[in-house]
Amino acid sequence: MTDPASPRPLALVTGASSGIGYQLALLFAINGFDLIATGRSEKTDKAAADLAAHGTDVVPVRADLATRDGVETVWNAVEKTGRPLDAAVLNAGRSIGGGFLDTDLDDELSLIDLNVTSVVHLAKHVARHMAANGKGRILITSSLSATLPTPYETVYGPSRAFTRMFALGLREELKEHGVSVTTLMPGATDSDFHARAGMNNTTFGAGMKKNSRKDVARQGFLALMNGQAEVVGGDAATRRTAWKNRFLPETLKAARHARSAKPRD
Ligand SMILES: NC(=O)c1ccc[n+]([C@@H]2O[C@H](COP(=O)([O-])OP(=O)(O)OC[C@H]3O[C@@H](n4cnc5c(N)ncnc54)[C@H](OP(=O)(O)O)[C@@H]3O)[C@@H](O)[C@H]2O)c1
Repeated sequence: MTDPASPRPLALVTGASSGIGYQLALLFAINGFDLIATGRSEKTDKAAADLAAHGTDVVPVRADLATRDGVETVWNAVEKTGRPLDAAVLNAGRSIGGGFLDTDLDDELSLIDLNVTSVVHLAKHVARHMAANGKGRILITSSLSATLPTPYETVYGPSRAFTRMFALGLREELKEHGVSVTTLMPGATDSDFHARAGMNNTTFGAGMKKNSRKDVARQGFLALMNGQAEVVGGDAATRRTAWKNRFLPETLKAARHARSAKPRD
């Protein structure tokens, strides 16, 4: 429960049970926000308890955002607080590694439900709510993968390209309503993400040097608070890659990604 009369700002973070989302939620907690922290697994309650230890009110919500009911469950939890939502981080997402000939169609359609459909669905509620209040900040997690074709996670990259362009379009529309929208584009980051995608037998497996999820979250949080349009999450090499990807042919980037993401026999 949160106090409806609380003067503290309120933030919603999806995918707050682990990884980048947990670190983002932690930054909100440390900076005086109360939280609605969502996840799908039992880790959500433990994460919420850890966040609450920073003196903040946290409402944990367990819901499968790949379903319409799951999205409505999350939004109902926001409405139930009776408080204005000051910030929303639409971050929950996943990838699926492997050759397209082998991967499961239902799994991939469910990935699109999570990475694309749920973002549009939740953004509809969040945008209308914030526009009615004349203020708010939205952070949408995309990926460096939005800047290239991603063979051997062929559905994932396009799903993040969608979120990037969606966020940039929404940003332009919501400007005149006092709401800012920021896109976070992390490069490969140390979280459960690649293991969950079944990519341990690729270059993205355990041996790879990845960006720190704490650093990526901090970059996203600062960009959100500064009202920036986009921020690349990661170190200087990651930012250089993002910059170079603007000029490289898609075919060349596809061949490069295939070398890294193709499962080893
Ligand atoms: N890590 C990277 O290299 C990387 C790079 C670029 C972009 N990203 C993006 O960063 C975001 C966060 O990923 P991460 O690296 O922090 O991965 P992560 O550690 O695997 O965290 C993913 C989060 O999303 C939640 N989630 C997954 N499926 C869900 C579902 N069906 N319904 C509701 N919640 C669900 C998870 O909840 P549970 O744990 O409770 O299941 C977890 O909180 C994703 O959108 C991803 O596309 C990651």
